[in-house]
Amino acid sequence: MAPDSKESIEAQPLTPAAMVALLALIGVVLLFVAIVFVYVGGWLSPHRLTQDRMMQAFQELDGAHPGFRRNHAKGMCVSGWFDSSGAAASLSKAAVLKAGERSAVIGRFALAGGMPFQADAPGQVRSMALRFLPAGGGGEWRTAINNIPVFPVNTAQGFYEQLLAARPDPSTGKPDPAAMKAFLVHHPETVRAGALINARVVSSGFADSTFNSLDTFRFVNAAGVSTPVRWAMEPLRPVVTEAAAQAARTDKNYLFDDLIAQIRQQPLKWRLMITVGRPDDPTNDATRPWPVARQRIDAGTLTLDAVSSEDGSGGACLWISYDPMVLPAGIEASDDPILSARSAAYARSLTLRAEEKSQKAPSAVTPQEVRALLAGGKP
Ligand code: HEM
Repeated sequence: MAPDSKESIEAQPLTPAAMVALLALIGVVLLFVAIVFVYVGGWLSPHRLTQDRMMQAFQELDGAHPGFRRNHAKGMCVSGWFDSSGAAASLSKAAVLKAGERSAVIGRFALAGGMPFQADAPGQVRSMALRFLPAGGGGEWRTAINNIPVFPVNTAQGFYEQLLAARPDPSTGKPDPAAMKAFLVHHPETVRAGALINARVVSSGFADSTFNSLDTFRFVNAAGVSTPVRWAMEPLRPVVTEAAAQAARTDKNYLFDDLIAQIRQQPLKWRLMITVGRPDDPTNDATRPWPVARQRIDAGTLTLDAVSSEDGSGGACLWISYDPMVLPAGIEASDDPILSARSAAYARSLTLRAEEKSQKAPSAVTPQEVRALLAGGKP
């Protein structure tokens, strides 16, 4: 029976009407696929924020620098470890926060902005990015944190509009003050956050800076209880305010050079401080600080004892994207809309720089000390 029925199927050619219907169906499928591509590319909605538009805005502001991160482009790799105190373990079941757990850390210090060769300056936002790998297994945790108390915007759209408002006017080569004024009229949250950011104490370097998560996350414990938290890395060394003479140094890598010299002298340490939110604290708005009276927990100590430049000759952080959504069980995203936008932007930035790998200049920071260190010699 089976061979006969196969023959009868093969023997029946499609009628012209069936052929037309089949071709029409294929056409409809192809049209649908094309529309999806056009939609995802943003051509159907010129005002919708896409990753390509976000990347284009970085480029319009800071220029094209193939092979580098689209933001925080000037940086260098560090490594060390994190010892958990266990004090936050009642709030989160994350392995990295278990009492006595030691996690290997690969990190990166950087300056905000898409210019890999910008001169170090006191006002420029400094960042610390960390990837924790708990020794006993368990989930990996990545966090990218800044030395400002709040973030200037509370949505990806606000971030994008701020980039566009700050880009240089082609006729003057400088930002158009009217564009920034118009942006601020529509973003009172940026005006409020800007006042807090400008009032911050700028410390002498990376080693005595405090770095803040700004976005809110949620700790989830073994019983499933979820708590809003923000975190900060606070330096163990005393904070020294940046002196005017320091900023006047002609060495354009003075912050990075100091960091290298300090880390070679002795390992640098920070405390991971967790701030525990209360039900009324804003979780979806990184421009708003939480009240200072909130409970704070010392969750452990970060030690960084090695540096390397990010030029592919040993910089272990080069291909790490410090995506804030790479979280272990026990740490979750909050309802802050910036978190998913960051995740998508960091992924796009990584894809672009990987594609441009062959065009990349050796490194954003190439101080002699790092070169000598990598060569195993003394600077
Ligand atoms: C919508 C808002 C944001 C956008 C579009 C954005 C975009 C980016 C991009 C494209 C990168 C480069 C990523 C890479 O190539 O690896 C980056 C790096 C970074 N961002 Fe954001 N960002 C946003 C908000 C924030 C916030 C709220 C923080 C808060 C702390 C932050 C902290 C950092 C840090 C520390 C880095 C450097 C990470 C590293 O050293 O690799 N960003 N950002």
